[in-house]
Amino acid sequence: MSILAIDAGTTGVTAVVVTPDGRIQATGYQEFRQHFPRPGWVEHSAEEIWQATLEATREVLTKVDQSELTAVGITNQRETIVLWDRETLGSPRRAIVWQDRRTADICDRLRSEGHEDRVAELTGLRLDPYFSGTKLMWLAENEPHTWALVESGRYAVGTVDSYLIARMTRGTWHVTDVSNACRTLLLDLESGDWSDELCGLLGVPRDALPELVPNWGEVAPTDPKVFLGLSLPIAGIAGDQQSALFGQTCFDEGESKCTYGTGSFILTNTGSSVVRSDAGLLSTAAWRSPSGEMTYALEGAIFVTGSAVQWLRDGLQIVGSAAETAAIASTVEDTDGVVFVPALTGLGAPHWDPHARGMIIGITRGTTRAHIVRATLEAIAFEVRDVLETLPGQGQTTLRVDGGASANDLLCQMQADHVGRAVERPEIVETTALGAAFLAGLGTGVWSSTDDLRETWALDRRFEPGGDREALDASYARWSDAVERSKGWAGL
Ligand code: G3P
Repeated sequence: MSILAIDAGTTGVTAVVVTPDGRIQATGYQEFRQHFPRPGWVEHSAEEIWQATLEATREVLTKVDQSELTAVGITNQRETIVLWDRETLGSPRRAIVWQDRRTADICDRLRSEGHEDRVAELTGLRLDPYFSGTKLMWLAENEPHTWALVESGRYAVGTVDSYLIARMTRGTWHVTDVSNACRTLLLDLESGDWSDELCGLLGVPRDALPELVPNWGEVAPTDPKVFLGLSLPIAGIAGDQQSALFGQTCFDEGESKCTYGTGSFILTNTGSSVVRSDAGLLSTAAWRSPSGEMTYALEGAIFVTGSAVQWLRDGLQIVGSAAETAAIASTVEDTDGVVFVPALTGLGAPHWDPHARGMIIGITRGTTRAHIVRATLEAIAFEVRDVLETLPGQGQTTLRVDGGASANDLLCQMQADHVGRAVERPEIVETTALGAAFLAGLGTGVWSSTDDLRETWALDRRFEPGGDREALDASYARWSDAVERSKGWAGL
């Protein structure tokens, strides 16, 4: 008995097989291309996401006994919007990615028309290009021929989970879950259903949207003709950050995690109530049980962390791999006054400025790549500190971390020092995929309760906070000053 979990992230697709003891038995991975058609625009080819899904799955299947597989769980980058033809499953255009800033003006327009408060009240979100809804408005306004086919019912609209399920079932199913749906600006968060009012405001036909299903429980079987010969129930679905919250077994109110992926996302479980923040955090759905019980979370969404490291590697080309950043940064004691604000796709929580752009300041003749690499890691720790300072009820003494960059010991130590609390890293940092496996396993009886799942969590290492508090606070003050300077840049 084991579960296949697919994590369709922003830069690649990971497929893992998880055994009933909560261990990852095997992994497959396939990166896909990022398209940047204009400054601030980010797109993915849906077909490439599907092909990467097949490739990653094919790889993992070579490493396990396929007959042991009992279900599939799916988790995904959220907010990215895909259109596809219900008959052919082909996409008429590339997906518009969550990082894409093209709708900043549409957001400004909706704000100036006075819609922000009502949208926030209904969705728990803000008017920011991050979310899918204004991306759909942009399509309606800029690609009317495509949009006409959405309105006529020929094209389906969905997030990446929904698209992958359509592909895996040969177009039979058009479904999603609340953790993805609540990021579209179209879901009424309290009721957990699509909102006619919001569909009307943004001009999105409700019929184009997927049906909402619980986060665990059997939804549909995969079609072996299109999915590598596999006929398995799809039994777990969640947006990647909610999936990581589940994978970290943060089932109780007050439990939080921080995932370092392309961006960094801090989520705190707020139980059955929608908790609202006036300090720049989002209220979001965490999951819905098959009996309809909703669990919510507060979220601090930081857009650029791992992708800043990727930019050091691919853009600046001053590191060969993300893994070597710790060693390079450790060759210097500090950043020697260099501060990097990685607002490469604007700023998310808690600042929310789509017009902010990245900035490296404090460079002198003595600056080396080691200072810049160290400033990048430090920026990740500062961004998380920015969010944690605004989270209510943070009496907690530890922060659970996961995701790729959590393997970086230097980053974990910097994080503990800056937030003044212990950082705990579990043995499995692929928590996003693990969460999807947990959901699918819960949905098919591999695990009978969340208590069973909790027992599988194991600590790898705990980083105690240390360092010179005064010096840490002084560097944080410098960071905060630099963040202010980066704001509004693209609008100048
Ligand atoms: O909201 C965006 C988030 O879902 C992306 O996650 O892991 O691809 O950085 P990731």
